[in-house]
Amino acid sequence: MAERSRILVVDDETQITRVLKTTLQSQGYEVKTATDGESALNFAVDWIPDLIVTDLSMPRMSGIELTRAVRERSQVPIIVLSVREEEKSKIDALDAGADYLVCQGTEAGGHVQASRGLYEGLPIVLDEAKGKPVIASGGIGNGQGIRQALSAGASGAMLGTRFVATLECPAHPVYKRELVAAHAGDTALTMCFQDGWPALHRALRNRTFVMWDAAGCPLPGKRPGEGEVVATRPDGSKVLRYFVAPPNQELQGRPEECALYAGLSVEHVKDLPPAGELVHRLWRECLAAV
Ligand SMILES: Cc1cc2nc3c(=O)[nH]c(=O)nc-3n(C[C@H](O)[C@H](O)[C@H](O)COP(=O)(O)O)c2cc1C
Repeated sequence: MAERSRILVVDDETQITRVLKTTLQSQGYEVKTATDGESALNFAVDWIPDLIVTDLSMPRMSGIELTRAVRERSQVPIIVLSVREEEKSKIDALDAGADYLVCQGTEAGGHVQASRGLYEGLPIVLDEAKGKPVIASGGIGNGQGIRQALSAGASGAMLGTRFVATLECPAHPVYKRELVAAHAGDTALTMCFQDGWPALHRALRNRTFVMWDAAGCPLPGKRPGEGEVVATRPDGSKVLRYFVAPPNQELQGRPEECALYAGLSVEHVKDLPPAGELVHRLWRECLAAV
């Protein structure tokens, strides 16, 4: 069996490390988590990850200090995640050795940390990045969209939803089918699927969302169908309605009622190609676009 790529996830919020670990493991990665910079640095030295994903603010050693300390020892790619809007945190991350910035727009599927649309935020982030590459993300689902991002100054594009709808993605086939059928207007920016990570996200308006929305978007404890089992994992554990993780191919039950993350880019999802073929198609479209 091919060796799995190793990802070290660092965050003092155990809810976040748990969700990231589950999600990344379901995509075939080997994952270790650390809740502070010091233990992360020990893992970075002894375990030798292929990628480090770290939060900025943590006890004892911050994400910036961790990035600096790792950079003294290795060139492992580091992604610094921050919910902070302040310019200084991004600049500190770059100064400490982060390789690039991802500029996410509110068009994005999944968890949305942005507060502006992609083309509102991109010029601001390009300015802050001071020459370091900026990757555009959110609502991009075809080569024309990539071309638009590159023309606006991005060095690359990061596509999420479009690659969930590929042959290789281990998402549940029902989730992929829903993506192919959906349009941008079928998504909502919401707090609906917040159990495990109470944060804003964009997902399809499925039955769980419609029930919750019709009830006036109540807080946990007062939500319709709360506590109901919507699916079961292979180990027999239950997935309850409003749980944060999207359904993978191993779930049994009603995956269509789980969190079906999708960006406005879902408008461009019309098929389920192999990922390699899709990359070639996107590049051809990008080159042909004017
Ligand atoms: C299935 C799925 C899961 C995601 N999970 C996360 C996540 O755990 N944390 C996060 O910050 N962003 C998450 N995202 C957002 C992506 O990082 C990216 O910003 C988004 O996919 C880009 O928009 P697009 O889906 O329109 O291409 C997720 C997106 C998708 C589609």
